[in-house]
Amino acid sequence: MRDSLESEIHHIKFKDVSFSYPGEKENLIFKCNFSIKKPGFWMIVGKNGSGKSTLLKLINGIIKPQNGIINCKADIGMVFQNPDHQILMPNCRSELLINVNQNISDFEINKKIEYVLDQVGLSGFEKRPVHTLSGGQKQRLTIACALISNRNFILLDEPTALLDQTSQIKVLKTIKNLTSDHKNPISALWITHRYEELTYADAVAELKNGLLSGWKEPSKFQYN
Ligand SMILES: Nc1ncnc2c1ncn2[C@@H]1O[C@H](COP(=O)(O)OP(=O)(O)OP(=O)(O)O)[C@@H](O)[C@H]1O
Ligand SMILES: [Mg+2]
Repeated sequence: MRDSLESEIHHIKFKDVSFSYPGEKENLIFKCNFSIKKPGFWMIVGKNGSGKSTLLKLINGIIKPQNGIINCKADIGMVFQNPDHQILMPNCRSELLINVNQNISDFEINKKIEYVLDQVGLSGFEKRPVHTLSGGQKQRLTIACALISNRNFILLDEPTALLDQTSQIKVLKTIKNLTSDHKNPISALWITHRYEELTYADAVAELKNGLLSGWKEPSKFQYN
């Protein structure tokens, strides 16, 4: 019963996963076990170089572990740490278009574009060439692309690192709404160094020495 339920809901499970980059003797991720079995807002913290971005790349299959099993049943969208590593198209509209489901009418597409740009505080930026955007605006565009893609699991790697407080709170609230939607909640796995963000999470964990700690409620989470 439990297994059949798990297979219906999008989820991620790591079982004894170990990973090291080529040429490195030490495992960066070592016998790591964790799971995310229900929709929600999940956050991970950890020191620079502890392997947070690597963990996200393992989840979405960009890199493969040397040992262990990654079971990932989700339609994953990704917001990379550096927006320049992700944006492909010359302007905001075309970048959003390559992320949207094209099987809907032009009217619906335009409505969605307007909506997601508003959600990240970029209303009116549709025709703007990408090279004229600031770093924070590019970061917000990549978040808008994740929102418009209609995925059920979004990985966000320090998505607010380049944002001012107003944009930061707007994006946090948008993700919170999507992950706590009554009808169709999604999951978001969000990496952060900004501790004030943890209060938005349903659960927080720390990546340290190759392992992810157990998930804790933000109020009970202590960062060492
Ligand atoms: N492609 C690669 N080849 C070799 N080593 C790598 C590669 N990518 C990352 N590393 C190394 O792996 C370690 C973990 O990197 P990672 O980017 O996952 O850390 P992080 O926790 O995301 O750090 P930050 O907080 O600075 O974003 C670092 O020592 C990094 O130099
Ligand atoms: Mg990183």
